[in-house]
Amino acid sequence: MSKRLDSKRILITGAATGIGRATVRAFVAEGAQVVIGDMKVQEGQALADELGPSVSFLQFDAAQESSIRNLVSDAAARLGGLDVLVQNAGVQYSGKVEVFDVEKWDHLMTINVRAYFLGAKYAIPHLRASGGGSIINMASAAGKRGSPGMSAYAASKGAVVLFTSALARELAADKIRVNAVCPGWVDTPFNAPAIANLGGLEAQERLIKTLVPMGRQAVPEEIAPMFVYLASDESTFMTAQAVVIDGGVTN
Ligand SMILES: NC(=O)c1ccc[n+]([C@@H]2O[C@H](COP(=O)([O-])OP(=O)(O)OC[C@H]3O[C@@H](n4cnc5c(N)ncnc54)[C@H](O)[C@@H]3O)[C@@H](O)[C@H]2O)c1
Repeated sequence: MSKRLDSKRILITGAATGIGRATVRAFVAEGAQVVIGDMKVQEGQALADELGPSVSFLQFDAAQESSIRNLVSDAAARLGGLDVLVQNAGVQYSGKVEVFDVEKWDHLMTINVRAYFLGAKYAIPHLRASGGGSIINMASAAGKRGSPGMSAYAASKGAVVLFTSALARELAADKIRVNAVCPGWVDTPFNAPAIANLGGLEAQERLIKTLVPMGRQAVPEEIAPMFVYLASDESTFMTAQAVVIDGGVTN
């Protein structure tokens, strides 16, 4: 029986843990060949070992242009080409602007924005050589609506949303679709800085109960299916979108 991602060759970054890890599992269940790029060697290699020959792991550092360029070319060589690029690696810092370190601002922009530009830049020739493809950028509901103490992170994810929109129009004629996914609160350790900024776990729970109509966070497995859809040929008329999955907060 055919699967939704049979014959898809996918590079996904930042997938050693969290939402990316759940997404790799979903990709493999649908028949894809996957290369994971991450800086966390132990977790990334363990995931590849667990999932078998259709998954391999490559270490890379999203802060370094040469590392991104090598990741893309090594992944395309391993997979025999590239159909899908998922840019998911990200970092988060929180804090009020008046006391926010410029080094943290620069690091957020380097990992969350600059690396996505570079990943796309080096992947586009491979996607074009495949006759088209799909770029999926991890943004955030925070990139659509700002909240206090999250200015830098919101700015980085807002940049991803508009980068996605512009690039989609640039690449439409090449049959390369570009979309972004914008989750709200998802239960991963990633949110530790935001939780600290709010005043701890109980404060976060109170906020979520009042802010989120569904009254809870997502689990990574509730975000992964959107990546499967955007990677698959079910979404061939979908481009330039930033899809929000946030339990009803936005709108
Ligand atoms: N958890 C949430 O509530 C939430 C909500 C919206 C968007 N997101 C976004 O989802 C993505 C994944 O987050 P997550 O919650 O799964 O957290 P996570 O910490 O599990 O995943 C982030 C991954 O990025 C990798 N990474 C960080 N810096 C890197 C670097 N310099 N080079 C290579 N890899 C690097 C980490 O090793 C990690 O595997 C992020 O882009 C995040 O902004 C998360």
